[in-house]
Amino acid sequence: MQQITLRRPDDWHLHLRDGAMLNAVAPETARHFGRAIIMPNLIPPVVTRDDAAAYKGRIMAALPEGSDFQPLMTLYLTEDTDPADVKRAKEEGLISAVKLYPAGATTNSASGVTNFDKVRPVLETMAEIGLPLCVHGEVVDADIDIFDREAVFIDRILDPLRTSVPELRVIMEHITTKQGVDYARSGGDNLGATITTHHLVINRNAILVGGIKPHYYCLPVAKREEHRLALRAAATSGDPSFFLGTDSAPHIDPLKESACGCAGCFTATNTMSILAEVFEQEGALDKLEGFASLHGPAFYGLEPNEAEMVLTKGEPVTYPDKIATPDGDVTVFDPMMPLHWRVG
Ligand code: NCD
Ligand code: ZN
Repeated sequence: MQQITLRRPDDWHLHLRDGAMLNAVAPETARHFGRAIIMPNLIPPVVTRDDAAAYKGRIMAALPEGSDFQPLMTLYLTEDTDPADVKRAKEEGLISAVKLYPAGATTNSASGVTNFDKVRPVLETMAEIGLPLCVHGEVVDADIDIFDREAVFIDRILDPLRTSVPELRVIMEHITTKQGVDYARSGGDNLGATITTHHLVINRNAILVGGIKPHYYCLPVAKREEHRLALRAAATSGDPSFFLGTDSAPHIDPLKESACGCAGCFTATNTMSILAEVFEQEGALDKLEGFASLHGPAFYGLEPNEAEMVLTKGEPVTYPDKIATPDGDVTVFDPMMPLHWRVG
């Protein structure tokens, strides 16, 4: 029997939602992960310190009895965000990052940023107090092809932004391209990048070949195979710039299986089994702990979790196809391959 032991992993990009959905999905993450950076794109978004405090309370109430999972809260950056409110939330230890969504880039991003000059005072305050900015790195201009949104964002927005506030710590969230990998790799200590579980597994064929497959549609959308291979090489390289952010993003099936389906893959349930399979395929099981458990805390200035996780190789792992919620089922991401590593 083959086993590996790692520090308990963390998820540096997670959607927990609210209400009934929060109650249904929080246990899926809390089962395996020690901490997670909680995305603030609720309706309405988590914009202020008070919003974050209230949302954190609702998350804590949704955790299973005895869980020691810690939600790491974020604020949703708007053009009206008050630097003093951000500073207070950071000083209280309430928030771990601020999230930048370009307006209109993805699910519930209507309140995001259009005019980057307007948020400069907040970014400068964040640089001063050492609070990282999580960035959804896609331009939304109508004349840019959706498959080019990330590469164009790096050139037009991200690089100028980092040059103008060089002390700001930035996380490129859910990178999906080799341009993203190259930029993160060469960005120095103030730049990190998260990679999702699903972008290590699927390329755009999964969405489009043999009929449209809405459960593989997420944003940023999966790209060509060469990009998936670049992401796998980055994740398994041991480079501390790269760490796990699942972007597990639940939507009920009727909202995915629709003429205008929502973006998001739900991977909270089987992420660790998928990652072990991927890292084994790459001959890099020894790099899994760095990617899932060590590089993220190091970037955020935190200690790794004390607790450990054991992964055991054996017969294909079984996991539910769907998680039930009172509003409808949420389909668990199907990696289209048997998974041999179980947690425990
Ligand atoms: C996310 C969601 O559903 O909130 N969807 C997704 O496809 N990843 C939003 C996001 O992170 O872009
Ligand atoms: Zn996300």
